[in-house]
Amino acid sequence: MLKGKNVAVCVTGGIAAFKAVSVVSGLVKLGAGVDVIMTAHACEFVTPLTFRSLTKTPVVTDMFAEPEHMDIAHISLAQKADLFVIAPATANVIGKLACGIADDMLTTTVMATRAPVLIVPAMNTNMYDNPIVRENIAKLKRLGYLFMEPAEGPLACGASGRGRMPEPAEIIERIKLEIAREKDLKGLRVLVTAGPTREAIDPVRYISNGSSGKMGYALAAAAALRGAETTLVSGPVALEPPAGVETVSVVSATEMYEAVLSRSADSDIVIMAAAVGDFRPESVSEEKIKKSSCVSELRLAKNPDILAELGRRKGENQVLAGFCMETEDLISRAREKMERKNCDMIAANNLKTPGAGFAVDTNVVTLLFRDGREPVKLSGAKTDIAHEILTKAARLRK
Ligand code: CTP
Repeated sequence: MLKGKNVAVCVTGGIAAFKAVSVVSGLVKLGAGVDVIMTAHACEFVTPLTFRSLTKTPVVTDMFAEPEHMDIAHISLAQKADLFVIAPATANVIGKLACGIADDMLTTTVMATRAPVLIVPAMNTNMYDNPIVRENIAKLKRLGYLFMEPAEGPLACGASGRGRMPEPAEIIERIKLEIAREKDLKGLRVLVTAGPTREAIDPVRYISNGSSGKMGYALAAAAALRGAETTLVSGPVALEPPAGVETVSVVSATEMYEAVLSRSADSDIVIMAAAVGDFRPESVSEEKIKKSSCVSELRLAKNPDILAELGRRKGENQVLAGFCMETEDLISRAREKMERKNCDMIAANNLKTPGAGFAVDTNVVTLLFRDGREPVKLSGAKTDIAHEILTKAARLRK
Protein backbone atom coordinates (compact mmCIF):
# COMPACT_ATOMS: atom_id res chain seq x y z
CA MET A 1 0.00 0.00 0.00
CA LEU A 2 2.95 2.33 0.55
CA LYS A 3 5.18 1.03 -2.26
CA GLY A 4 7.17 3.87 -3.77
CA LYS A 5 6.55 6.14 -0.77
CA ASN A 6 9.30 7.37 1.54
CA VAL A 7 8.69 8.09 5.18
CA ALA A 8 11.21 9.70 7.52
CA VAL A 9 10.52 8.49 11.03
CA CYS A 10 12.00 10.81 13.64
CA VAL A 11 12.38 9.34 17.11
CA THR A 12 12.94 11.54 20.16
CA GLY A 13 13.85 10.60 23.71
CA GLY A 14 10.77 9.29 25.49
CA ILE A 15 9.84 5.86 26.80
CA ALA A 16 7.35 5.50 23.91
CA ALA A 17 10.40 5.30 21.59
CA PHE A 18 10.07 1.52 21.83
CA LYS A 19 6.68 1.78 20.09
CA ALA A 20 8.36 3.55 17.17
CA VAL A 21 9.99 0.20 16.41
CA SER A 22 6.55 -1.27 15.57
CA VAL A 23 5.66 1.79 13.50
CA VAL A 24 8.84 1.39 11.44
CA SER A 25 8.37 -2.35 11.07
CA GLY A 26 4.73 -1.84 9.97
CA LEU A 27 5.75 0.76 7.38
CA VAL A 28 8.44 -1.53 5.97
CA LYS A 29 5.86 -4.35 5.67
CA LEU A 30 3.58 -2.01 3.69
CA GLY A 31 6.41 -1.43 1.21
CA ALA A 32 7.47 2.07 2.27
CA GLY A 33 11.08 3.19 2.13
CA VAL A 34 11.86 4.26 5.71
CA ASP A 35 14.68 6.44 7.00
CA VAL A 36 15.01 6.76 10.74
CA ILE A 37 16.46 9.83 12.41
CA MET A 38 17.09 9.67 16.15
CA THR A 39 18.05 12.24 18.75
CA ALA A 40 20.85 11.40 21.17
CA HIS A 41 18.25 10.97 23.93
CA ALA A 42 16.23 8.53 21.81
CA CYS A 43 19.34 6.37 21.51
CA GLU A 44 19.21 5.95 25.31
CA PHE A 45 15.84 4.18 24.95
CA VAL A 46 16.29 2.17 21.73
CA THR A 47 19.45 1.45 19.79
CA PRO A 48 19.92 2.65 16.20
CA LEU A 49 20.81 -0.96 15.35
CA THR A 50 17.20 -2.00 16.00
CA PHE A 51 15.91 0.42 13.37
CA ARG A 52 18.78 -0.28 11.01
CA SER A 53 18.00 -4.00 11.12
CA LEU A 54 14.37 -3.30 10.18
CA THR A 55 14.97 -0.71 7.47
CA LYS A 56 18.28 -2.08 6.12
CA THR A 57 19.32 1.58 5.98
CA PRO A 58 21.76 3.47 8.20
CA VAL A 59 20.08 5.40 10.98
CA VAL A 60 20.89 9.08 11.14
CA THR A 61 21.81 10.30 14.60
CA ASP A 62 24.76 12.61 14.36
CA MET A 63 24.95 15.97 12.56
CA PHE A 64 28.62 15.57 11.87
CA ALA A 65 28.89 11.90 10.97
CA GLU A 66 27.27 11.93 7.57
CA PRO A 67 26.32 8.48 6.27
CA GLU A 68 28.22 7.74 3.07
CA HIS A 69 25.11 7.11 0.96
CA MET A 70 23.76 10.64 1.20
CA ASP A 71 25.11 13.87 -0.25
CA ILE A 72 24.17 16.26 2.49
CA ALA A 73 22.24 14.08 4.86
CA HIS A 74 19.67 16.49 6.20
CA ILE A 75 18.93 17.99 2.79
CA SER A 76 18.74 14.68 0.98
CA LEU A 77 16.43 13.17 3.62
CA ALA A 78 14.31 16.29 3.69
CA GLN A 79 13.81 16.13 -0.09
CA LYS A 80 13.33 12.39 -0.38
CA ALA A 81 10.54 11.98 2.18
CA ASP A 82 6.86 12.05 1.22
CA LEU A 83 6.07 12.46 4.92
CA PHE A 84 7.92 13.13 8.15
CA VAL A 85 6.60 11.48 11.29
CA ILE A 86 7.93 12.51 14.70
CA ALA A 87 6.96 9.68 17.05
CA PRO A 88 7.25 9.99 19.94
CA ALA A 89 7.51 13.77 19.99
CA THR A 90 8.65 15.11 23.37
CA ALA A 91 7.72 18.53 24.76
CA ASN A 92 11.35 19.45 24.02
CA VAL A 93 11.24 18.78 20.26
CA ILE A 94 7.82 20.42 19.94
CA GLY A 95 9.23 23.49 21.69
CA LYS A 96 12.29 23.57 19.46
CA LEU A 97 10.28 23.29 16.26
CA ALA A 98 7.85 25.97 17.40
CA CYS A 99 10.79 28.31 18.01
CA GLY A 100 12.73 27.43 14.88
CA ILE A 101 15.64 25.87 16.76
CA ALA A 102 17.61 23.42 14.64
CA ASP A 103 20.44 22.16 16.81
CA ASP A 104 20.60 18.47 15.91
CA MET A 105 20.12 16.25 12.90
CA LEU A 106 16.43 15.67 13.60
CA THR A 107 15.33 19.29 14.00
CA THR A 108 17.60 20.42 11.16
CA THR A 109 16.10 17.91 8.75
CA VAL A 110 12.50 18.64 9.78
CA MET A 111 13.19 22.33 9.32
CA ALA A 112 14.58 21.70 5.84
CA THR A 113 11.68 19.68 4.48
CA ARG A 114 8.70 20.76 2.41
CA ALA A 115 6.97 17.43 3.03
CA PRO A 116 4.08 17.30 5.50
CA VAL A 117 5.20 16.69 9.08
CA LEU A 118 3.05 14.55 11.38
CA ILE A 119 3.83 15.09 15.07
CA VAL A 120 2.79 12.41 17.57
CA PRO A 121 3.26 13.82 21.08
CA ALA A 122 3.88 11.47 24.02
CA MET A 123 4.64 12.80 27.47
CA ASN A 124 3.45 13.13 31.05
CA THR A 125 -0.10 14.56 31.34
CA ASN A 126 1.00 17.68 33.21
CA MET A 127 3.65 18.38 30.59
CA TYR A 128 1.10 17.94 27.83
CA ASP A 129 -1.30 20.30 29.60
CA ASN A 130 1.44 22.86 30.29
CA PRO A 131 0.37 26.16 28.68
CA ILE A 132 3.75 26.51 26.98
CA VAL A 133 3.35 23.12 25.29
CA ARG A 134 -0.28 23.94 24.40
CA GLU A 135 0.82 27.22 22.85
CA ASN A 136 3.66 25.56 20.92
CA ILE A 137 1.26 22.93 19.56
CA ALA A 138 -1.29 25.60 18.62
CA LYS A 139 1.41 27.56 16.79
CA LEU A 140 2.68 24.53 14.88
CA LYS A 141 -0.89 23.55 13.94
CA ARG A 142 -1.47 27.07 12.66
CA LEU A 143 1.66 26.71 10.53
CA GLY A 144 0.34 23.52 8.94
CA TYR A 145 2.07 20.85 11.03
CA LEU A 146 -0.14 17.79 11.50
CA PHE A 147 -0.79 16.31 14.94
CA MET A 148 -2.19 13.14 16.41
CA GLU A 149 -3.88 13.45 19.79
CA PRO A 150 -2.23 11.43 22.56
CA ALA A 151 -4.34 8.64 24.04
CA GLU A 152 -5.52 8.47 27.65
CA GLY A 153 -4.32 5.76 30.00
CA PRO A 154 -1.55 4.70 32.38
CA LEU A 155 1.73 6.54 31.74
CA ALA A 156 5.25 5.28 32.30
CA CYS A 157 5.71 7.76 35.17
CA GLY A 158 2.98 6.00 37.16
CA ALA A 159 0.34 8.68 36.57
CA SER A 160 -2.70 8.13 34.41
CA GLY A 161 -4.16 10.56 31.91
CA ARG A 162 -3.72 12.08 28.48
CA GLY A 163 -0.20 11.72 27.09
CA ARG A 164 0.24 8.14 25.91
CA MET A 165 1.50 7.74 22.37
CA PRO A 166 -1.30 6.29 20.17
CA GLU A 167 -0.81 2.64 19.28
CA PRO A 168 1.50 1.94 16.28
CA ALA A 169 -1.42 0.56 14.22
CA GLU A 170 -3.27 3.86 14.62
CA ILE A 171 -0.18 5.83 13.63
CA ILE A 172 0.24 3.66 10.53
CA GLU A 173 -3.43 4.19 9.60
CA ARG A 174 -2.89 7.94 9.85
CA ILE A 175 0.28 7.75 7.72
CA LYS A 176 -1.66 5.79 5.07
CA LEU A 177 -4.34 8.45 5.17
CA GLU A 178 -1.77 11.13 4.44
CA ILE A 179 0.22 9.52 1.65
CA ALA A 180 -1.13 6.15 0.47
CA ARG A 181 -3.30 7.50 -2.32
CA GLU A 182 -3.58 10.48 -4.59
CA LYS A 183 -6.16 12.92 -3.15
CA ASP A 184 -8.34 12.84 -6.27
CA LEU A 185 -11.59 13.10 -4.30
CA LYS A 186 -10.51 16.17 -2.31
CA GLY A 187 -13.31 18.70 -2.07
CA LEU A 188 -16.02 16.04 -2.34
CA ARG A 189 -18.31 15.00 0.51
CA VAL A 190 -19.05 11.30 0.51
CA LEU A 191 -21.74 9.66 2.64
CA VAL A 192 -21.69 5.87 2.95
CA THR A 193 -23.91 3.46 4.89
CA ALA A 194 -22.79 0.04 6.03
CA GLY A 195 -23.75 -3.03 7.98
CA PRO A 196 -27.09 -4.49 8.95
CA THR A 197 -29.87 -2.83 10.89
CA ARG A 198 -31.29 -4.39 14.01
CA GLU A 199 -35.00 -4.27 14.79
CA ALA A 200 -35.88 -4.95 18.42
CA ILE A 201 -38.54 -7.50 19.36
CA ASP A 202 -37.96 -7.08 23.09
CA PRO A 203 -34.95 -5.87 25.18
CA VAL A 204 -32.92 -8.99 24.32
CA ARG A 205 -34.15 -10.15 20.91
CA TYR A 206 -34.07 -8.61 17.48
CA ILE A 207 -34.50 -9.21 13.75
CA SER A 208 -31.36 -8.57 11.70
CA ASN A 209 -29.31 -9.98 8.82
CA GLY A 210 -25.80 -11.30 8.26
CA SER A 211 -24.21 -8.17 6.81
CA SER A 212 -20.66 -7.72 8.16
CA GLY A 213 -20.35 -4.11 6.99
CA LYS A 214 -17.06 -4.89 5.19
CA MET A 215 -18.10 -3.45 1.80
CA GLY A 216 -19.39 -0.18 3.28
CA TYR A 217 -16.36 0.20 5.55
CA ALA A 218 -14.05 -0.42 2.58
CA LEU A 219 -15.88 2.31 0.65
CA ALA A 220 -15.61 4.82 3.50
CA ALA A 221 -11.92 4.04 4.12
CA ALA A 222 -11.15 4.35 0.41
CA ALA A 223 -12.99 7.68 0.10
CA ALA A 224 -11.08 9.09 3.09
CA LEU A 225 -7.74 7.86 1.72
CA ARG A 226 -8.51 9.75 -1.48
CA GLY A 227 -9.16 12.98 0.35
CA ALA A 228 -12.97 13.06 0.46
CA GLU A 229 -14.69 14.43 3.54
CA THR A 230 -16.29 11.15 4.48
CA THR A 231 -19.17 10.19 6.76
CA LEU A 232 -20.09 6.61 7.51
CA VAL A 233 -23.48 5.74 8.97
CA SER A 234 -23.07 2.25 10.33
CA GLY A 235 -25.39 -0.37 11.75
CA PRO A 236 -24.04 -2.69 14.47
CA VAL A 237 -20.85 -4.39 13.20
CA ALA A 238 -17.61 -5.73 14.67
CA LEU A 239 -15.29 -3.46 12.66
CA GLU A 240 -13.03 -0.62 13.75
CA PRO A 241 -14.14 2.80 12.44
CA PRO A 242 -11.93 3.68 9.46
CA ALA A 243 -9.25 6.34 10.00
CA GLY A 244 -10.20 9.84 8.95
CA VAL A 245 -13.92 9.06 8.68
CA GLU A 246 -16.72 10.58 10.75
CA THR A 247 -18.53 7.44 11.88
CA VAL A 248 -22.11 7.61 13.13
CA SER A 249 -23.41 4.45 14.83
CA VAL A 250 -27.07 3.53 14.53
CA VAL A 251 -29.06 0.43 15.33
CA SER A 252 -32.45 0.37 13.58
CA ALA A 253 -33.51 1.25 10.04
CA THR A 254 -35.46 4.21 11.39
CA GLU A 255 -32.32 5.54 13.12
CA MET A 256 -30.34 5.01 9.91
CA TYR A 257 -33.04 6.86 7.96
CA GLU A 258 -32.77 9.87 10.33
CA ALA A 259 -28.94 9.85 10.35
CA VAL A 260 -28.68 9.61 6.56
CA LEU A 261 -31.44 12.02 5.59
CA SER A 262 -30.15 14.69 7.99
CA ARG A 263 -26.74 14.56 6.25
CA SER A 264 -27.50 13.72 2.63
CA ALA A 265 -28.37 17.19 1.29
CA ASP A 266 -24.74 18.31 1.75
CA SER A 267 -23.23 15.19 0.18
CA ASP A 268 -21.83 14.99 -3.34
CA ILE A 269 -21.85 11.20 -3.45
CA VAL A 270 -24.15 8.97 -1.38
CA ILE A 271 -23.60 5.21 -1.39
CA MET A 272 -26.13 2.96 0.32
CA ALA A 273 -24.13 -0.19 1.03
CA ALA A 274 -26.08 -1.06 4.20
CA ALA A 275 -28.31 -4.11 4.28
CA VAL A 276 -31.29 -2.21 5.65
CA GLY A 277 -33.95 -4.40 7.24
CA ASP A 278 -37.21 -4.10 5.30
CA PHE A 279 -39.43 -4.83 8.30
CA ARG A 280 -39.56 -4.22 12.04
CA PRO A 281 -41.84 -5.67 14.70
CA GLU A 282 -45.03 -3.63 14.82
CA SER A 283 -44.57 -3.16 18.57
CA VAL A 284 -41.56 -3.71 20.83
CA SER A 285 -42.22 -5.46 24.12
CA GLU A 286 -40.82 -3.43 27.02
CA GLU A 287 -40.04 -6.58 28.99
CA LYS A 288 -38.41 -9.78 27.86
CA ILE A 289 -41.06 -12.03 26.33
CA LYS A 290 -41.27 -15.24 28.35
CA LYS A 291 -41.36 -18.48 26.44
CA SER A 292 -44.33 -19.55 28.57
CA SER A 293 -46.34 -16.79 26.83
CA CYS A 294 -45.93 -18.87 23.66
CA VAL A 295 -45.81 -16.16 20.98
CA SER A 296 -46.68 -17.80 17.69
CA GLU A 297 -47.07 -14.69 15.59
CA LEU A 298 -44.88 -11.60 15.11
CA ARG A 299 -46.64 -8.72 13.38
CA LEU A 300 -44.32 -6.64 11.21
CA ALA A 301 -44.41 -3.06 9.97
CA LYS A 302 -42.55 -1.83 6.88
CA ASN A 303 -39.39 0.19 7.37
CA PRO A 304 -38.81 3.37 5.36
CA ASP A 305 -36.86 2.82 2.14
CA ILE A 306 -33.87 5.12 2.68
CA LEU A 307 -32.49 4.84 -0.85
CA ALA A 308 -35.90 5.54 -2.42
CA GLU A 309 -36.24 8.66 -0.25
CA LEU A 310 -32.72 9.76 -1.19
CA GLY A 311 -33.73 9.27 -4.82
CA ARG A 312 -36.76 11.54 -4.34
CA ARG A 313 -34.60 14.24 -2.73
CA LYS A 314 -31.56 13.82 -5.02
CA GLY A 315 -29.76 17.12 -5.60
CA GLU A 316 -28.82 18.53 -8.99
CA ASN A 317 -25.20 17.37 -9.00
CA GLN A 318 -25.46 14.59 -6.46
CA VAL A 319 -24.53 11.03 -7.36
CA LEU A 320 -26.60 8.33 -5.71
CA ALA A 321 -25.42 4.72 -5.67
CA GLY A 322 -27.21 1.68 -4.31
CA PHE A 323 -26.42 -1.98 -3.83
CA CYS A 324 -28.61 -4.85 -4.86
CA MET A 325 -28.15 -8.27 -3.38
CA GLU A 326 -30.17 -11.06 -4.96
CA THR A 327 -30.06 -14.81 -5.29
CA GLU A 328 -31.74 -14.93 -8.75
CA ASP A 329 -32.53 -12.62 -11.73
CA LEU A 330 -29.76 -10.33 -10.53
CA ILE A 331 -29.30 -7.91 -13.43
CA SER A 332 -32.96 -7.33 -14.30
CA ARG A 333 -33.91 -6.83 -10.64
CA ALA A 334 -30.97 -4.51 -10.07
CA ARG A 335 -31.98 -2.41 -13.09
CA GLU A 336 -35.55 -2.24 -11.86
CA LYS A 337 -34.36 -1.09 -8.39
CA MET A 338 -32.02 1.50 -9.90
CA GLU A 339 -34.94 3.01 -11.88
CA ARG A 340 -37.49 2.77 -9.07
CA LYS A 341 -35.19 4.34 -6.47
CA ASN A 342 -33.80 6.97 -8.88
CA CYS A 343 -30.15 5.93 -8.43
CA ASP A 344 -27.37 6.85 -10.85
CA MET A 345 -25.64 3.53 -10.40
CA ILE A 346 -26.18 0.25 -8.63
CA ALA A 347 -23.74 -2.47 -7.61
CA ALA A 348 -25.44 -5.78 -8.18
CA ASN A 349 -24.19 -8.90 -6.47
CA ASN A 350 -25.46 -12.42 -6.21
CA LEU A 351 -25.15 -13.84 -2.72
CA LYS A 352 -24.69 -17.32 -4.16
CA THR A 353 -21.67 -16.46 -6.35
CA PRO A 354 -18.42 -17.90 -4.93
CA GLY A 355 -16.28 -15.04 -3.58
CA ALA A 356 -19.28 -12.76 -2.99
CA GLY A 357 -21.36 -12.23 0.11
CA PHE A 358 -21.58 -10.73 3.55
CA ALA A 359 -18.73 -11.97 5.71
CA VAL A 360 -15.94 -12.43 3.14
CA ASP A 361 -13.24 -9.92 2.17
CA THR A 362 -13.90 -10.34 -1.55
CA ASN A 363 -16.88 -9.56 -3.74
CA VAL A 364 -18.13 -10.09 -7.27
CA VAL A 365 -20.31 -7.22 -8.52
CA THR A 366 -21.71 -5.81 -11.72
CA LEU A 367 -22.01 -2.03 -11.81
CA LEU A 368 -25.03 -0.79 -13.75
CA PHE A 369 -25.47 2.83 -14.79
CA ARG A 370 -28.68 4.78 -15.27
CA ASP A 371 -27.31 6.84 -18.17
CA GLY A 372 -26.81 3.80 -20.37
CA ARG A 373 -23.07 3.35 -19.90
CA GLU A 374 -21.85 -0.20 -20.39
CA PRO A 375 -22.09 -2.35 -17.23
CA VAL A 376 -18.75 -3.02 -15.52
CA LYS A 377 -17.93 -6.37 -13.94
CA LEU A 378 -15.66 -6.31 -10.90
CA SER A 379 -14.30 -9.11 -8.77
CA GLY A 380 -11.61 -9.20 -6.11
CA ALA A 381 -10.87 -7.60 -2.76
CA LYS A 382 -13.67 -5.42 -1.39
CA THR A 383 -11.04 -2.68 -0.97
CA ASP A 384 -10.23 -2.68 -4.71
CA ILE A 385 -13.91 -2.83 -5.65
CA ALA A 386 -14.55 0.12 -3.31
CA HIS A 387 -11.96 2.22 -5.17
CA GLU A 388 -13.51 1.32 -8.55
CA ILE A 389 -17.02 2.22 -7.36
CA LEU A 390 -15.76 5.59 -6.09
CA THR A 391 -13.90 6.31 -9.33
CA LYS A 392 -17.04 5.56 -11.36
CA ALA A 393 -19.29 7.57 -9.01
CA ALA A 394 -16.96 10.59 -9.14
CA ARG A 395 -16.98 10.42 -12.98
CA LEU A 396 -20.77 10.57 -13.02
CA ARG A 397 -20.71 14.03 -11.48
CA LYS A 398 -21.47 16.67 -14.05
N1 CTP B 1 -32.38 0.04 1.00
C1 CTP B 1 -32.73 1.14 1.73
N2 CTP B 1 -33.76 1.08 2.62
C2 CTP B 1 -34.47 -0.06 2.79
C3 CTP B 1 -34.11 -1.20 2.02
C4 CTP B 1 -33.06 -1.12 1.14
O1 CTP B 1 -32.10 2.18 1.59
N3 CTP B 1 -35.45 -0.09 3.66
C5 CTP B 1 -31.28 0.15 0.02
C6 CTP B 1 -30.11 -0.76 0.29
O2 CTP B 1 -29.14 -0.11 1.09
C7 CTP B 1 -29.57 -1.02 -1.11
C8 CTP B 1 -30.81 -0.93 -2.00
O3 CTP B 1 -31.78 -0.23 -1.23
O4 CTP B 1 -28.68 -0.01 -1.52
C9 CTP B 1 -31.38 -2.23 -2.43
O5 CTP B 1 -31.61 -3.05 -1.31
P1 CTP B 1 -32.24 -4.49 -1.45
O6 CTP B 1 -32.36 -5.10 -0.09
O7 CTP B 1 -31.50 -5.26 -2.51
O8 CTP B 1 -33.65 -4.15 -2.06
P2 CTP B 1 -35.04 -3.87 -1.41
O9 CTP B 1 -35.49 -2.54 -1.86
O10 CTP B 1 -35.01 -4.12 0.06
O11 CTP B 1 -35.96 -4.94 -2.14
P3 CTP B 1 -36.09 -6.54 -1.88
O12 CTP B 1 -35.77 -6.78 -0.44
O13 CTP B 1 -37.49 -6.83 -2.25
O14 CTP B 1 -35.12 -7.18 -2.83
